[in-house]
Amino acid sequence: MDKLEILKMTISDLDSIKDSLLLDFDDFWNYNTFKTELLNPNSKYIVAKVNKKIVGFAGIWKAVDDIHITNIVTAKKFRKHHIGSTMLLKLIEMAETEKEINSITLEVNANNEPAIKLYEKFGFKKVGLRKKYYNNTYDAIIMTRRKTNEKK
Ligand SMILES: CC(C)(COP(=O)(O)OP(=O)(O)OC[C@H]1O[C@@H](n2cnc3c(N)ncnc32)[C@H](O)[C@@H]1OP(=O)(O)O)[C@@H](O)C(=O)NCCC(=O)NCCS
Repeated sequence: MDKLEILKMTISDLDSIKDSLLLDFDDFWNYNTFKTELLNPNSKYIVAKVNKKIVGFAGIWKAVDDIHITNIVTAKKFRKHHIGSTMLLKLIEMAETEKEINSITLEVNANNEPAIKLYEKFGFKKVGLRKKYYNNTYDAIIMTRRKTNEKK
C-alpha cells in the first residue's frame, strides 16, 4: 500500500465522502450528525488518506478528565492494513497531550470482534457493559485505557 497520511479532518473531507458513508464506511454516521460533530469545539477528527483518497476517519470527544472515542472506521476495501491501528495510535497520542485527561473510554458493540481486538491490542480493558445499548437490542462493552498504560 502507498504511504498513509493522518490529517485533521475538514468539512471538505466530509463532503468528499458524503456519498460513500453508507457503502464504504458502514453507514456509521449520517452526514448531518457528522457535520455537527465536526463543528463541535469539544471534538477532534482525523482522516487517513492514501494517495489523497480518504480510507478512514476517527474522532474523539473531550469531557472533563476523559476523552471519549466517538468513532473509528476504515473503508471496507482497506481493512486489515493497519489503518485502524495507525488512527487509534494517533487518537491516543492526541489524548496523551491533554494534561488533565486521565483516561480514554469508548463503547463497542459486544459482537464487534475486530474492533474489540483492535482496542485490546492498544491497552484498552473491558470495564463494563451497557445492556441493549444499540437499537435497544445489542449490548455495548465499555472499554477504558488509563493514561499510564504502556502502548503495545
Ligand atoms: C475495527 C476497524 C476500525 C479495524 O480497522 P483496520 O484498519 O482493519 O484495523 P487494523 O488493520 O489496524 O487491525 C488492527 C487489529 O485489529 C484486529 N482486527 C482487525 N480486523 C479484524 C478481524 N476481521 N477479525 C479479528 N480481529 C481483527 C486485529 O487484532 C488487528 O491486529 P493484527 O493486524 O495484529 O492482527 C474496522 O474493522 C472497521 O472500520 N470496522 C467497522 C467500523 C467499526 O466497527 N468501528 C468500531 C466502532 S466502536
